[in-house]
Amino acid sequence: MKMLESSSVPLFSVFILLLILLLIVLLIRKNATAALIWNEIIREKVTNFIMNQSKEQRILNFVLQNAVRGDPCSVLDTIDKYCSQKEWAMNVGDEKGKILDKTVEEANPSVALELGTYCGYSAVRISRLLKAGARLLTVEFNPEFAAIAKQMIEFAGVQDKVKLLEGPSEEIIPQLKKKYEVDTLDFVFLDHWKDRYTPDTILLQECNLLRKGSVLLADNVIFPGAPDFLNYVRKSPHFQCTNYPSHLEYMQVEDAMEKAVFLG
Ligand SMILES: C[S@@+](CC[C@H](N)C(=O)[O-])C[C@H]1O[C@@H](n2cnc3c(N)ncnc32)[C@H](O)[C@@H]1O
Repeated sequence: MKMLESSSVPLFSVFILLLILLLIVLLIRKNATAALIWNEIIREKVTNFIMNQSKEQRILNFVLQNAVRGDPCSVLDTIDKYCSQKEWAMNVGDEKGKILDKTVEEANPSVALELGTYCGYSAVRISRLLKAGARLLTVEFNPEFAAIAKQMIEFAGVQDKVKLLEGPSEEIIPQLKKKYEVDTLDFVFLDHWKDRYTPDTILLQECNLLRKGSVLLADNVIFPGAPDFLNYVRKSPHFQCTNYPSHLEYMQVEDAMEKAVFLG
């Protein structure tokens, strides 16, 4: 009897361990923040260590090996395939990408600005829709991401339309007029860290970079969320806002994009 009792102790521990694992998996499946922590912090760091390579490098390599050079749509599809099937990444993705496409097509910009380049997914997405002679300036402060994005943009064949500006948005925006010969911006895609949305929107106005009709489109206003920005543009008499409900890239988590048209 005693023997039986002592042998059931390890069994009981295994059962408890399995129960804890099951609870963690359920939590991850139900909770977007837990899922992102799992993907971004635990799984990604372990894979980086084992492969001695960053996730962004793996995304680029997958594109170089599987997409068609010079075909922006093939590059976008290949990134979406990798990030929906293998490793989550913070590209705007295909669902919100369609809202981005529509907004760019309606604005038909001559000069567009993107804040937050990452691997170049949205830069490829925006630039493939630009009319002849139009240009996209895209800002990224992480040198590793900037290097990946440059290769992605080159591979997609849109390098003549895109200029990558390396540095923090708060330093680049005041340089746009003189250093990059921008008069006013027709379209701005805000997709950098969310706490910069409001100060950079104010900075764009202070630097006289917006004209009547300039279109701002902000990603992730619900998840991770940009409540200050929503509050600022919706209350401002200088902006007319429209919300586009959607989902976080590659996940079934509610998110939205906010369009804010500058009224002058
Ligand atoms: C969500 S990702 C951009 C995704 C990209 N727009 C896409 O859809 O493919 C945000 C990026 O903004 C960059 N970033 C964050 N804050 C920034 C800032 N103040 N200035 C420049 N880059 C910034 C980060 O390094 C990161 O690569």
